[in-house]
Amino acid sequence: MMSPFLKYGLSAASLALSLGVASCSPDPNSPGVEYAPEMYESIPYEPLRQITFNSINSFGINQRTPAAGTVPRGKLAYFDHIPKDSVTIAERTLRNPYAYSKANLEEGQVLFSRYCLHCHGEKGDGQGPVGMKFKGVPNYSSGAYKTMNDGHIYHVIEWGRNRMMPHGSQVNPEERWKIAMYVHVLQLNNDPADLPKLVKVTAPVEATSASSGEASAMTDGTNQKAEGKANSRTGSETPGQGTPGRNGKMN
Ligand code: HEC
Repeated sequence: MMSPFLKYGLSAASLALSLGVASCSPDPNSPGVEYAPEMYESIPYEPLRQITFNSINSFGINQRTPAAGTVPRGKLAYFDHIPKDSVTIAERTLRNPYAYSKANLEEGQVLFSRYCLHCHGEKGDGQGPVGMKFKGVPNYSSGAYKTMNDGHIYHVIEWGRNRMMPHGSQVNPEERWKIAMYVHVLQLNNDPADLPKLVKVTAPVEATSASSGEASAMTDGTNQKAEGKANSRTGSETPGQGTPGRNGKMN
């Protein structure tokens, strides 16, 4: 007579053994026996997943393919249909839809410091901590770089150029335009303090970004009120600065 301990111990061992054997399979791609597979493979149809053939929807897919040419809501501005190697087309045809307001320029400055400064430097002279090692980062205020317009800079941000990688996946169109605005500040004299020289908007700025429904988190009402005051102070301090060739309004 086996002791109950031995009896249960043996059956537990044989159960474990048989499970172990059954869960192995010579096919290296087979997961073997799965415990409660529904836990991993959902029975309800999940919109962005396709586990087994969907016999209810046409084409056997959970989510229908969008019609050709479909543009996601709010993404219209993402497509300018300019080939990535055609910066000159961008220069001629793209227009900056955002006002040269203090809030927009300052937002551009913040974005520039996040995405560009490490290479291009705080002054846009190419002497950022990465720029010094990376080599070939230009000085925005020298030679032909001094006159790059908004469309040019926008396109370079989106697609990159030569040694510079594209940044289109990191900054959306609104942010690209605001960064381009701020690059113009550095094109003047490599001096971030030149920012007020490019402020063009003297009217209350709430109308610009807020009313078009495109206000971003950074252009909140507080910023915009402060800006109105600053404009009235700095509006006339631009003699000889911000000429069309430099400030991007030329396009
Ligand atoms: C990893 C370093 C790096 C970062 C980050 C970077 N750049 Fe550049 N950028 C370069 C280099 C290098 C060049 C020179 C490209 C060349 O001609 O080979 C360049 C060139 C440019 C040019 C001139 C393009 C032309 O027409 O010759 C512009 C404008 C520019 N960058 C803007 C930006 C902006 C705006 C950002 C931030 C969104 C940015 N870059 C981020 C390295 C960088």
